[in-house]
Amino acid sequence: MSNSSQSTISVIGSLNIDYFTRVETLPGPGETIACLSLELFHGGKGANQAISASRQGAKVRFFGSIGDDAEGQDYREALVEEGIDLSCLQTGNSRTGAAFITVDESGENMIVVSGGANEELTESDIRENQSNLTSSDAVLANFEIPIPALIGAAQIANEANVPLVINPSPYDPIFPWQEIQTDYLIVNEGEAIEVLEFDPLQEEISVVRQRLTEIRVEHLIITRGGNDTIVYPRSDDPFQVETLPVLPIDTVGAGDAFAGCFTCRIAEGESLENAIRAANCAGALTTLGSGAQDPIPDREKVEQHLEHLSN
Ligand code: RIB
Repeated sequence: MSNSSQSTISVIGSLNIDYFTRVETLPGPGETIACLSLELFHGGKGANQAISASRQGAKVRFFGSIGDDAEGQDYREALVEEGIDLSCLQTGNSRTGAAFITVDESGENMIVVSGGANEELTESDIRENQSNLTSSDAVLANFEIPIPALIGAAQIANEANVPLVINPSPYDPIFPWQEIQTDYLIVNEGEAIEVLEFDPLQEEISVVRQRLTEIRVEHLIITRGGNDTIVYPRSDDPFQVETLPVLPIDTVGAGDAFAGCFTCRIAEGESLENAIRAANCAGALTTLGSGAQDPIPDREKVEQHLEHLSN
């Protein structure tokens, strides 16, 4: 499907090789179990988000660090095939990042990440490519990279008035929320509690607004798996956006698909509600296949399901 208002998005984040095992039941502490299957996929929250934005039609630049190894070379080629601009992707001295993912029969998962080359991304790497950030329609970042690099990118986006979308996953309490203006904060329910230091769903709206003002977040977007997404604009009433009912195979990468699709739609100028509706669809559809990236839908697929939802 053609997209008349193509936006340019900078994604700052991680790339991992995902070692993906399926088991009947997740192991407990000290337990050794055999897996039902092992597959290798390309993953990492940053690359998953970049691919989602790109499949929605955005022109995507990727800022990150990948290993100087065969896996890294292979991964670069795959991203180029996706049409992602890698001119701001540096090659580190460590191995390409790796994630060890185990999914049980109910779709529940455990993930252990070895950051590898992702850990080599520095604030000066970001600042060297500053003009690529300031010429973007939106900047999207996650927490699977060193926080100083992320802070640098956020400051550049703030100074240039480029909308900043943050997905603080995996959560790290050292992020200085008060120093950064976050236009859209995308979290799951657990992350919402960590960032706000209370459960927003159990609090008065005035208390949530006060906290959003303190941490300089303009819109708080809470994804809730198969349930409606809840949105708290700092200066408006909260609202909910329905999601697509699906029977998930695995939920790995669904949050990343949401973030990438959302950022693409917001950068194009879609309303907040419509951007979230599309992102809900992208997230839900991503749970219908194995691995993080293969099942991320393109724009046409999201549009087909959106039509279905509004009928
Ligand atoms: O969000 C899913 C991603 O988390 C996986 O692709 C894995 O690499 C981990 O970073």
